[in-house]
Amino acid sequence: MCYTGPKIVVSPPGPKAMKIIERDERILSPSLTRSSALVGERAEGVYVEDIDGNVFLDFGSGIAVTALGHRHPAVVEAIKEQAEKLIFINSLDYYTVPQVEYAEMLFKVTPGTFPKRVFFTNSGSESVDTAIKMAKWHNRRMYGIGYINGFHGRTMGAVSFTTTGLTARRGFGPLYPIGQFAPYPYCYRCLFNKEYPSCDIYCMNYLTDIIFKKLVAPDETSFIILEAVQGAGGYIVPPKEFFTRLSEVSKEHNILLIVDEVQTGFARTGKMFASQHFDLEPDIMTLSKAMAQGLPCGAAVARAEVMDWVDNAHEGTLNGGPVIMEAAKAVLRTMEKEDITSRAASMGNYLKEQLDFLKEKYPVIGDVRGLGLMLGVEFIKDAKKTPASDFRNALMEAAFQKGLLLLGAGESSIRLAPPLIITKEELDTGLSILEDCIKVLQ
Ligand SMILES: Cc1ncc(COP(=O)(O)O)c(C=O)c1O
Repeated sequence: MCYTGPKIVVSPPGPKAMKIIERDERILSPSLTRSSALVGERAEGVYVEDIDGNVFLDFGSGIAVTALGHRHPAVVEAIKEQAEKLIFINSLDYYTVPQVEYAEMLFKVTPGTFPKRVFFTNSGSESVDTAIKMAKWHNRRMYGIGYINGFHGRTMGAVSFTTTGLTARRGFGPLYPIGQFAPYPYCYRCLFNKEYPSCDIYCMNYLTDIIFKKLVAPDETSFIILEAVQGAGGYIVPPKEFFTRLSEVSKEHNILLIVDEVQTGFARTGKMFASQHFDLEPDIMTLSKAMAQGLPCGAAVARAEVMDWVDNAHEGTLNGGPVIMEAAKAVLRTMEKEDITSRAASMGNYLKEQLDFLKEKYPVIGDVRGLGLMLGVEFIKDAKKTPASDFRNALMEAAFQKGLLLLGAGESSIRLAPPLIITKEELDTGLSILEDCIKVLQ
């Protein structure tokens, strides 16, 4: 396999894909979103080939998972080597070398030089549930605060703080019954109709003046959970002062700050973790996605003194298995060796610049935002910024037909999160498909 560009040999979904999709739709859960009719067969680098031989340029990395590109040789080698030695012993009853080694490596790259502990999980949602339980165990406080438009996953704890849309929540109540929600600084659509920076981060007042004065007592609040950059909500980047104020408030009341870096983590934003853009040192960080490049892996990393629960309080059979840990070690080694954070930052700057040019040309593009190679493009219908959801959906389908994989976010945005090893030429290829589609559809 050596792909040189997207190639559509039969209009997707082709005949083989159609057969699988028909079978799938009869037996798999109807709750799965399925953005495009892609039946993946093999992949390499920034390209994914479907079962009919169509080749797609991947601008989504399976939601920011395959940061090193599909099947990076170092990751494949680490998996193979460990599989030859030991695939599994459970790490709740026994110990393994890869877990200890990976934990030590992880602590070196996560924000904060203070002593840390880690609990390994199988997914982002499980990392979030772990963080919530850990916080409550530690301070025995009742309440938790989330953010509007936040996405933290689908398990009962995580979905209780997921507020990207009602479909995630409807029918599942009562959810974690003691959550309150504050407005995230989505400055392009400020809930208070204010403008940054003259707003002086007015949205913080909702937390301090409404939630903490009228709804829940700060000294009964266990944690505040939020994403460093909102992902599924639309790739929304808060101003740095927001995090400065939030850290001050949480410190003042001894509330644990849980920063969800499931999507932003591992170099995606041009720094190893998005928290580092904001000088944030979270009390607990939740991780997953790019951590093991597609193997089920996640973590809650905490200040050592916060992870003070006792044996049997929280564990999981498959968590942190040796093959997964070796893959995760290879990811960190490769990220360092190939200076992936710098690549994400420089390619991200280039992509952002090009998207800004498109924004000048096409009024349907309302906003371009993001950090590193985590860039969102929001589409609007008019000067009142009416979300152009249909346009966004049609654009994703048109791009798919031309061999470009795009993922949606928010009401009318796409998220551009290509593998971080992408070249300028490959970005240009994707950009030109994107522009062609916008031209035709606008
Ligand atoms: C920020 C964030 N947190 C948590 C999750 C949930 O992760 P998972 O789908 O692995 O459960 C996601 C998934 O998109 C996410 O983006």
